Amino acid sequence: MSTIGIFDSGSGGLSVYRELVKLLPDEHYVFFADNANCPYGEKPASFIRERGRAITDILLALGADLIVVACNTATAAAISTLREEYPEVPFIGMEPAVKPAALGTKSGVIGVLATAGTLKGSKYLNTRGQYEDNVKIVEHVGQGFVELVENGILDGEEAEKTVRASVQPLLDQGADILVLGCTHYPFLAPVIRRIAGPDVRIIDPAPAVARQTLRVMKERGIPVGDTSFSVDLYSSGDGTSLKRIFNYL
Ligand code: DGL
Repeated sequence: MSTIGIFDSGSGGLSVYRELVKLLPDEHYVFFADNANCPYGEKPASFIRERGRAITDILLALGADLIVVACNTATAAAISTLREEYPEVPFIGMEPAVKPAALGTKSGVIGVLATAGTLKGSKYLNTRGQYEDNVKIVEHVGQGFVELVENGILDGEEAEKTVRASVQPLLDQGADILVLGCTHYPFLAPVIRRIAGPDVRIIDPAPAVARQTLRVMKERGIPVGDTSFSVDLYSSGDGTSLKRIFNYL
């Protein structure tokens, strides 16, 4: 039986889990949400690396054959260290979908929504550097988005006001594609859609990460589809937020 380990700072990683289950329905999943330390967005990279190590140890003890770092911020801060320190473990990370956005924009402007930690990470800056000669890349931290999702506020006046404050500046600069660079943000996609209107494309990288997970499983000889579906959820917090978003899926 293969076990897919997944972690995030909180419940946002469930947006990646949702896509994994569509593509890989017959697997055992263990999902760890670090709700006690959420959000990671403004925390020092050294702290996030430390949490990454601790959570990796937990997921491995639970039998994970590979680990999906379903958090852009943790990917930026910790994935290269984790790959060095656990060379036998396949890690799959998140990356803001700048490439498909750069290829698809008609206005020549793409908007990236992510946490401060992701936007200043070298991984993102390198990707940005590859495309910014051809397209204009404008960015905004999704200020308050993670807190909305963790508190289960996925719609309504408060969600709309908070989301608009970060999305409108990107639209005002001409972005016709918005890249969701944080795994919490897809849970606010209906609100983002309403604010952006029907002509703006919204890209969630989660389906691409699920496809990459399947590729890595095949490459590493990890059996695919050899068990019936099951999932165990773990949280470093009280589990309220995790259960709420899980029930929303
Ligand atoms: N879901 C996370 C991400 O993809 C982390 C957000 C946070 O904890 O600030 O970046």
